[in-house]
Amino acid sequence: MRLTRLLAAAALLLAPTLVPPAFAQNAEVREPGLVPYVVKDYAIEKSLTGKPGDAAKGRQWAITGGQGNCVICHKMPIPEVAFRIGNVGPDLSEVGGRLTPAEIRMRIVNSKLLNEETIMPAYYRVSGLTRVAPAFANKPMLSAEQVEDLVAYLSTLK
Ligand code: HEC
Repeated sequence: MRLTRLLAAAALLLAPTLVPPAFAQNAEVREPGLVPYVVKDYAIEKSLTGKPGDAAKGRQWAITGGQGNCVICHKMPIPEVAFRIGNVGPDLSEVGGRLTPAEIRMRIVNSKLLNEETIMPAYYRVSGLTRVAPAFANKPMLSAEQVEDLVAYLSTLK
């Protein structure tokens, strides 16, 4: 009896912190150590840091190995790394005209919310990851600031 009540209490406590299934169109996502965020209509409206990012830094993360390194899969207008540019993902040269900043943010945070099968890494996520290098255990691949810097940069691409 006591145990049942204890378990019920634990379940109640844990319930709001449970991460919703990867395929969630509308959800509030809370993960240990990460800023909570709300996904609505495949977009995250609010800045993870509460302020706009720095587009110049975002451009840098897009080409930095170990950080974003987006150019290994995406065409972007960054001539100095032309030799490293991949075409696994869609061309992002005009992504700011196609997607809103909120939609871009969701795709960087966790594009698996849109397509469970995508090979694009979920950059702001700590749970449900497989084959994580020890250096990344319990750490998202990008910080909230870096995500916002990338949102700012990609939004300039029109
Ligand atoms: C391993 C390859 C890979 C890497 C690395 C990668 N992406 Fe992607 N990305 C994809 C693929 C593939 C898609 C297409 C969506 C899908 O698979 O459902 C995509 C889609 C996107 C989209 C949506 C584009 C659209 O037109 O709908 C954005 C925005 C995006 N990626 C941004 C980024 C950013 C920013 C980075 C770096 C932080 C990044 N991606 C790194 C593979 C990658």
